[in-house]
Amino acid sequence: MEHIANAQPTDRLAPDAAGIAHAAALLQAGGLVAFPTETVYGLGADARNDAAVARIYAAKGRPSVNPLIVHLATPAQAAAFAHVTPLADGLMGAFWPGPLTLVLPLRDGHGLSDRVTAGHGTVGLRVPDTPLARSVLETFGGPVAAPSANPSGRISPTTAEHVLQGLAGRIDAVLDGGPCAVGLESTIVDLSGETPHLLRTGAVSANDITAATGGSMTGDGRGEEDTAPSAPGQMTSHYAPRAALRLNATRARPGEMLLGFGASAGAAENLSPSGDLREAGANLFAALHRLDAQGAQTIAVSPIPDQGIGRALNDRLRRAAAPRR
Ligand code: TXA
Ligand code: MG
Repeated sequence: MEHIANAQPTDRLAPDAAGIAHAAALLQAGGLVAFPTETVYGLGADARNDAAVARIYAAKGRPSVNPLIVHLATPAQAAAFAHVTPLADGLMGAFWPGPLTLVLPLRDGHGLSDRVTAGHGTVGLRVPDTPLARSVLETFGGPVAAPSANPSGRISPTTAEHVLQGLAGRIDAVLDGGPCAVGLESTIVDLSGETPHLLRTGAVSANDITAATGGSMTGDGRGEEDTAPSAPGQMTSHYAPRAALRLNATRARPGEMLLGFGASAGAAENLSPSGDLREAGANLFAALHRLDAQGAQTIAVSPIPDQGIGRALNDRLRRAAAPRR
């Protein structure tokens, strides 16, 4: 099978045996396939194929200095690519498959494209928790590099429709598995130093991690970034809708649209009328996409409790509200 970038429209594949086989064949041929995970849709390519990985950066407009997460079908595959310390092994046992990415020292003979690691001596690994993603990974049989399937700097996609809105014509296919259950990107913990370091918050909270390791962790989860110039992780605007955001708003001012949480009167969208943080996490990016589509100039956002997955929601909202360049 010959792969020709951008020569034809993006296929929408059904979440069945034929769709899974087609997705795996495209990956084998060096193609780009978006697929659903429990967090957000990822834009996958064979992590060992330099040209395929280069196409990910081109399709997203992503700076080449920003490394990619490698997705695996099973935890047992991790040892082929990275040094799995006892601490890493414990966290894999506790949270994989699931929304946790572990940054580990690369192992000699890892075989990954240097573009995946962006020249760093580490690799981010994750085993996603949806049967569809794991079927594709199993059928393909190798490591799949996959950033979120959005143009760099935009909101991550939680439906196949979002993927097509951002990347149609730039990728080969999207496997349509419906909306993502978690809806926020994975928690990222760097285990390459002496003490675990939290780079990004997600559905697995800092407390969940320290409870599992029984030790301490540095970092506040604000170290991650999509367009980082220096280290993987230090910049301002990210996850940005077109509209401006005003956070911790009790009501919409004239000309604003209210993104509510709990009992918010007059909300254009409500992340969770019952005040359920998990439901709010699953709805956040889709709600921002819809308010953008309605032409919102400024989105006023109700206060969200800063606990558990609420910390990840507030993190994404702060990034979306940060100064744009
Ligand atoms: O939930 C997720 O993690 C989704 C799904 C598709 O798995 N993926 C995702 O990828 O959010 P991306 O590329 O949008 O965000 C990954 C973040 C980037 O900020 C990148 O800098 C960081 O992970 N990262 C990847 N490899 C790293 C490494 N070796 N060291 C430090 N940071 C790393
Ligand atoms: Mg991203």
